[in-house]
Amino acid sequence: MKRIWIKDTIKKKSEKVKVSGWISSVRSHGKIIFADLRDFSGSLQLVFVPSDKETYEKAKRIRSEWVVEVGGKISERPENMFNDKIETGRIELSADNLNILSEAENIPFSIEGLGFDISEEKRMKYRYIDLRRERLKKNLIERQKIIQFIRSYLQERSFVEVETPIITKSTPEGARDFVIPSRIQKGKFYALPQSPQQYKQLLQVAGIERYFQIARCFRDEDPRADRQAEFTQLDLEMSFVEQEDVISLIEPLLIELVKNLYPEKNIQEVPFPRISYQEAMEKYKTDRPDLRKSPENLAFCWVLDFPFFEKDENKKWTFTHNPFSAPKPEFMEDLLGKRNIEKILTTQYDVVLNGYEIGGGSIRNHKPEALKAVFEIMGYKESEIKDKFGHMLEAFAYGAPPHGGIAWGMDRLIALLMGEQNIREVIAFPKTGDSRDLMMGSPDEISPKQLKELGIKVEKKKK
Ligand code: AMO
Repeated sequence: MKRIWIKDTIKKKSEKVKVSGWISSVRSHGKIIFADLRDFSGSLQLVFVPSDKETYEKAKRIRSEWVVEVGGKISERPENMFNDKIETGRIELSADNLNILSEAENIPFSIEGLGFDISEEKRMKYRYIDLRRERLKKNLIERQKIIQFIRSYLQERSFVEVETPIITKSTPEGARDFVIPSRIQKGKFYALPQSPQQYKQLLQVAGIERYFQIARCFRDEDPRADRQAEFTQLDLEMSFVEQEDVISLIEPLLIELVKNLYPEKNIQEVPFPRISYQEAMEKYKTDRPDLRKSPENLAFCWVLDFPFFEKDENKKWTFTHNPFSAPKPEFMEDLLGKRNIEKILTTQYDVVLNGYEIGGGSIRNHKPEALKAVFEIMGYKESEIKDKFGHMLEAFAYGAPPHGGIAWGMDRLIALLMGEQNIREVIAFPKTGDSRDLMMGSPDEISPKQLKELGIKVEKKKK
C-alpha cells in the first residue's frame, strides 16, 4: 500500500491507509495505547489495542520522535474525544500494522510551543530538531511563498532572474569582505559579494534592462537581531529609469504582496509617506522612523534625499550609502567640480517598515567621469581607482544606459511579516550571535595540507 500524507486521511473515513512520520507523544489509557503521529502535513491520533498482539507489542516500545510507518483503518473518534483544534481531530487510525523505521534518543529540548525560552546554543546546535517546531516550519513555508510571489510578479513584468558569481573580487561597499584564498594564484584572494551591485550594473551595460535575483550576500560584520553575516536580498536593477520609476515598481509590489498573502494585515498609509533624511533626523532622530499609530499596522515609508558623503573617523570623505549612486541631478555640477561636497544629495532611497530599513537603492552614475569623481572625492589615487574600479569605468565607456535599482533585505521583510523579533527565526540555518554555526562546527581550522596548498601560514594566537 502507498503511504499517504496525514492531511489526506480526512477524506479516507472507513478506509485502510498507510501513514508515516514522527511520534509526537505516547500515552496509555487502561490497556489502550494512544500515540500522536506527525508528518509534514499534519498530525493524527493512532490507537493500538491488545487484541492485535503483534502490533500492540511493538507499540509498547515506541517513544517520542521515533520514526514509524503505520497501517490501519481510519475511523471516527467517539464524540467526547473530538479535538477541533486540529484538522484530523475527529478521526483516528486504528492501527493493525506498525513498522519502526528509526529509533530516537531523547531530544535535547521540547519542540512544543514557541521555543523562545530555550538557549540559543542548544537551538542552533540542534537546528534540525528546532526546525521540527511548528513556528519555524511555518516561517520556512511562508518565506518560500513570499519569494515565489515576488518571482512571479517580476517575471510577469519582463524581469529576468540572473545568477551572478559568489566567488568574486573584494569591493568597498561599507562592510568587511569575507575573503577566499586562491590555490592556483597563490597569494591572491577572491571575496564573497557584499551584494551583486557591480554585476547588476554590468548586466545593464549588457542590455539586460530588467534584472532581478534572489541573491545571497555576505558581509563580515557582527550579527544583530536584524543582521547576519550571510543574508538574502531581492536585488533588482533597471535601465532608462529615474527614481520615480523604481519607487512606482517597488511600492505596488510590496502592497500586492501584503494584500495577496496577508490580507488580514493593515498597511497604515498608501501611498507610502515620503520623508527627507533631514526631516527624519529632525522629527524622529533616526533615518528609519517607526511610524506605526497602532502596533499591529505595517507602516511603510520612503526616506529620500540623503547626503552623498560624510567624514569618516580619519576625517576623509566617504559615501553614506553606495559609491555607485548618482547625485540628485541638481548636484551633478558640484560632484564633477568636487565642490560643496557636504551639500551634495544622492538619489538614494530607503524603504522603511516599522522602524527597520528593509531596502535601499539609487540611480547610478552611468558616466565614467561622474563615477571617477566620487572616488576622487574619497581621496583614491588614480592608480587605486584603476585597480579597484577600472573594470566599471571601462564598461561604462562602451555605451552604458542610465540605470538604477534597489535591494530588499528579504530576511528582515519576512521576519516583520511573520512577527519575529530576530531574522534568524526565518532563516533555516542561521549563525549564532557570534557568527558560528554550532551544528556544523564552523568556522573551523583546516589541515596543514590545505594550508600548504594555499600558501598560507597561520599565526598562532599568543596565549
Ligand atoms: P544595502 O547595503 O542597503 O544596499 O542592503 C540592502 C538591504 O539589505 C538588508 N541588509 C541586511 N540584512 C540582513 N543582514 C545584513 N547583514 C544586512 N545588510 C543589509 C537591509 C538593506 O536595506 N547594493 C545595494 C542595493 C542597491 O543600491 O541596489 C545594497 O546592498 O534590509
